[in-house]
Amino acid sequence: MDLLDAIQQSKPCRLFKAAQIPDAKLTSVLNAGRLAPSIDDKQPWRFLVVREEGNKLKLSQLVSKGTLIRSAPVVIVVLASEGESPSLVGGVVMSHLLDVAVAIENIVLAATAEGLGTFWISDFNTDKISRFFGIPDGFQVVGLLPIGFPMPEAPSTNGKAPNGRKSLAEVTAYERFNW
Ligand SMILES: Cc1cc2nc3c(=O)[nH]c(=O)nc-3n(C[C@H](O)[C@H](O)[C@H](O)COP(=O)(O)O)c2cc1C
Repeated sequence: MDLLDAIQQSKPCRLFKAAQIPDAKLTSVLNAGRLAPSIDDKQPWRFLVVREEGNKLKLSQLVSKGTLIRSAPVVIVVLASEGESPSLVGGVVMSHLLDVAVAIENIVLAATAEGLGTFWISDFNTDKISRFFGIPDGFQVVGLLPIGFPMPEAPSTNGKAPNGRKSLAEVTAYERFNW
């Protein structure tokens, strides 16, 4: 799939088929994360792949989107290593979190290109997840990505357009700040 098609077609997957993900597809998706660019090429990401039912069940009890976690054949817990990328972008933004967000979006787009669906979950309790998986201090959980083959979805009933993004004119200015 063409990259721009993947960007356009990428949308959160809310329902997964039970089918397992072939290893080659999972590897391809993880590689897309691994190949992301990062500040000073620090690559501060770690991808914890969760496939065992018992672990998914426990993880599902620690987040608000538990059903998604349970129903996906694979969940990637994406971690950021704080010590490996300790700078501040513009003196404000923590670089390791920025880097890992880039890697996550690579994973999301690669999943789309591989015919898979995923859902970036950010609503969770880091401490509980870290305790369960034995994640030490210095590593932060940045996102949970349940991933699998998407079930066709009925059209949205929440009244929003399928892709209700702001228009280009609303988010773009030329030469001077103009909002
Ligand atoms: C960084 C990030 C974190 C997100 N975390 C959550 C989340 O915790 N729960 C959730 O329901 N959706 C989450 N989403 C999905 C967004 O809410 C969703 O992409 C947005 O509402 C637009 O919907 P659309 O992609 O279907 O157009 C997250 C998206 C991003 C980029």
